[in-house]
Amino acid sequence: MRAQFQAKSILDTKTDLMAVAVFEETKAGARDIHQIDKKLNGAVRKLLEGAFKGKKGESFLMYTAGRLPFHWLLVVGMGKEDKYQIKGARGFVGAAVRAARRCNAKKIAFPMECLFKKDLSLTIEDFIQQLAEAASLANFSFDKYKSRQNGDGKTKTVEEITFIGSAFKASRQALQRGVNRGRLVAESANLARILSNEPSNVMTPAAMARAALEATRGMGVRCTIRDERWLHQKKMNAVLAVAQGSENRPRFVVLEYQPAGVKESPIVLVGKGVTFDSGGISIKPSEGMEKMKYDMSGGAVVIAVIQALAKLKVRQRAVGIIPLVENMPSGAAQRPGDVIRTYSGKYVEVLNTDAEGRLILSDALAYAQNFKPKAIIDLATLTGACVVALGHEAIGMMGTDDSLKARIKEAGERTGERVWELPLWEEYFEAIKSEVADIKNVGARGAGTITAAMFLKEFVGDYPWVHLDIAGTAWVEKNSHPYLNPGPSGVGVRLLVEAIRNW
Ligand code: BES
Ligand code: ZN
Ligand code: ZN
Repeated sequence: MRAQFQAKSILDTKTDLMAVAVFEETKAGARDIHQIDKKLNGAVRKLLEGAFKGKKGESFLMYTAGRLPFHWLLVVGMGKEDKYQIKGARGFVGAAVRAARRCNAKKIAFPMECLFKKDLSLTIEDFIQQLAEAASLANFSFDKYKSRQNGDGKTKTVEEITFIGSAFKASRQALQRGVNRGRLVAESANLARILSNEPSNVMTPAAMARAALEATRGMGVRCTIRDERWLHQKKMNAVLAVAQGSENRPRFVVLEYQPAGVKESPIVLVGKGVTFDSGGISIKPSEGMEKMKYDMSGGAVVIAVIQALAKLKVRQRAVGIIPLVENMPSGAAQRPGDVIRTYSGKYVEVLNTDAEGRLILSDALAYAQNFKPKAIIDLATLTGACVVALGHEAIGMMGTDDSLKARIKEAGERTGERVWELPLWEEYFEAIKSEVADIKNVGARGAGTITAAMFLKEFVGDYPWVHLDIAGTAWVEKNSHPYLNPGPSGVGVRLLVEAIRNW
């Protein structure tokens, strides 16, 4: 999607769809529409005086029948002006892109001055970044497997977006930087969404390892793909134990982004890469099992974040680690009751083969320590309990380091990929003590998200560490999000790029 700025009025902006934001009560933004009201014989004023209140979620699409330099006019309610936050602007852009896609408008434009307010505490550059991000995120849908013959399968997309306003001259470069950054970050997030959308017969561990290589090729990232032989040599028995039930053999990917001249120790990102989670011998119910193709979303996000950091030339060393397995039941699968010696040397009793994420992460987190990182951050669709606790609105955050948690929390507020902290009190450790080994891979009852994190904590040493449970947020339910279409969300990409960029 191209993006541009124009210091023009609505009346002389040629485009396909013009979107205008109108606040409730104050009707700020309506000024922009009044300019065009005459040409529409007072239709807009009628609308604003009557049915249209400017409430959040309200919108009106009008065909202009050749009277204006654009075919469609979209009026979007923003809610009360004193309650306005940046997420309202993201939602506005989402509504505009969605409307344009429905009526096959390729170019959209909107006046943005009434959306940029001082109390958003954002620079104009960061503001534009967020709008550009929302636009290209809203423009995404996964329709690779809908063939044209099959009717109107392919979805239409927007090709150009124009920001209209007058104060552009002075800050033109800053605006362009914001747009570029937004587009790059969103493209990486969309890459993560593609990987998570791919069905598990396509996105096998080997295929995902190749995708990591392709996504980071030619941009100063070293990608190392390890296979089963290496996992045996390293005694990564937790990864191997989960993988042993599947014909699709495991991989272990390490991505190293090393900007020239940066000497500081790296931030290590670890992502759960279960390309399909059937539960293994502790098999899941069949209803909804198809969704478990997205159980590699943490890994996909790690690939996308490393890609974005490299494209943006962020001056931070970063390492991505992705253990890739498929969790299947078979004659060779691990059993409840098995005991494995993990890469760290700790013994784990496997009581439930469906708690496989923490197993592969235990080896990956222990391996992360080899990089002497200044922080370890892992992302995983780890527990159904997290969906119960926080739904689809917040990432579950747990960790050992207050300043690291504060960074993530702040980045969450800025990007809208919000996190909510759960405690890691030592009392919770009781639940994962084992009778036969050092620890067991499931807790008792209650606090399932926390006991999973307590398990991971055993493998991070003394390094500052944060765990992000994205089980609820990595998937967008139908009709639930203002600018993300249903399916895998790519959550975590904007969050971590923002946190690392401002480290
Ligand atoms: N991948 C699942 C977690 C999950 C469940 C993500 C539902 C999204 C939606 C994970 O591997 C799992 O199965 N966890 C178990 C753990 C339990 C056996 C202790 C769970 O949450 O039920
Ligand atoms: Zn599982
Ligand atoms: Zn899983």
